[in-house]
Amino acid sequence: MAQWVTVWRAAQLVGVPRGVLQQRVRSGEIELADGLVSTQTLLTLYPQTKLEESGLLERVTQIRDDSFGKRLRERILPSQEVLAQRLFQQSQELADVQRHLQRYHALVIALRDRLHEFSRSAGADDARLQALRRQLDEGLARALATESVDVLDVMDDMLKVVSAQVTVRPSGHQFTVEGRDSLLQAGMRAGLKLNYGCGNGSCGLCKVRVIDGQVACTLHSDYSLSPAERQQGYVLACAHTAASSELTIETLEARGPADMPEQQIVTSVRGLRELAPDTVQLHLQTPRTHRLRFLAGQSVTLGLAGAQDAHIDLAIASCPCDDRNLHFFIARDPGNSFAERLFSGAVKPGDAVTVWGPSGDFVLDEDTRPLVFAACDLGFAPIKSLIEHALAADTVPSISLFWLATRADGHFMGNQCRAWSEALDNFDSTLTHHVDLVTGASHMSAAIRADLFDIDCVYYVAGPRRFVDALRAELSAAGVSAARVHCEITS
Ligand code: FES
Repeated sequence: MAQWVTVWRAAQLVGVPRGVLQQRVRSGEIELADGLVSTQTLLTLYPQTKLEESGLLERVTQIRDDSFGKRLRERILPSQEVLAQRLFQQSQELADVQRHLQRYHALVIALRDRLHEFSRSAGADDARLQALRRQLDEGLARALATESVDVLDVMDDMLKVVSAQVTVRPSGHQFTVEGRDSLLQAGMRAGLKLNYGCGNGSCGLCKVRVIDGQVACTLHSDYSLSPAERQQGYVLACAHTAASSELTIETLEARGPADMPEQQIVTSVRGLRELAPDTVQLHLQTPRTHRLRFLAGQSVTLGLAGAQDAHIDLAIASCPCDDRNLHFFIARDPGNSFAERLFSGAVKPGDAVTVWGPSGDFVLDEDTRPLVFAACDLGFAPIKSLIEHALAADTVPSISLFWLATRADGHFMGNQCRAWSEALDNFDSTLTHHVDLVTGASHMSAAIRADLFDIDCVYYVAGPRRFVDALRAELSAAGVSAARVHCEITS
């Protein structure tokens, strides 16, 4: 018999991005009932998930050997306590179902025996009683017959133990808690814009209300919830994880850049990596207790301690899901004192760098259409942050990246783009060179038109002004509405 699972869980079970299933829902290939997908439909669309007909134990052995099992093995299991709680809960549910089934079975057997008695006393010629008896006997035989197990149902049960599914109210967003992640870490990894401050249980900004399910404490917290808050089910998301396989919480999420607080954080240089002769990657790390809250695609101002003139405005090149480790791409620029000091070797690991921000509204919309990212030179920084966020959120069916290099340093992170293309079925990258920004933008527009123009996409464009203006004009001339094109000017 088919089971019903959420789209989120369905994507996990068949191993495709959630956006791909959502697109199949929109096209009518998948029909939802109360927002749920039938495992029967999934098996029809993804028959490769079907295992050989055999006993349950054999099935589980096969699951361990196939790609689904590999995905499971690659994840880190939750702590023993959380695992024990989830297993205990699942055992309780199974015991409940078993108890109900035994009662129903006893009821049906008693009814059948009474019917036999009636039909004996009424005589063999009472056709209606005989028909009822036959119907009951046949129904019972069918119910007791061994049926093949729904493989997706088995997988779902396994997933419920190793990872928990969290639904956020009122947004309806969903995410999975895997390994030893707290609710906050798991939510951020999934691209949610949850409210938080310190990340270590001392500020209270990450309070969420548990509506349904159970949580387990993972971290000692100094912040003390009031008795009324405790009674209403509030917990700190940074200090708790899901103890039940399904959990519903209530919390407000940031809607956009206006909800990001202005912050000032003294970070330290974790590393400097030469990506090309004139391009360096700067890796800053925030204190454990004071992380930078930002949205993918936003920028900050960096200042070197003790050098008042050494400031630079830069787009963050990393994902908000790792809010402690901030990456930036910096080009050699004799006119900028910050860059000059960096390239002269005056900045060393461990040095203090102050971060002010975040700023900017070049951020992802809650749109589930295919995404096209167009970068030129160091415009790749905010684009990389957006791509990492989109991959974490897993809500779009496909991502296409076009990156034009006009500098001698070329595609200083070309390997990263190739790695994405190789690892992800729904990711394509096209890397092009041209010394002229405008001609390069025109060639890029032609490539976009050739690949994607019959698709309803959303565009994110970042780079020097002349490139952005030229590409925006080309897209507009080709009929793409301004609402579908988001632009960011970078140096
Ligand atoms: S983020 Fe500060 S207490 Fe959770």
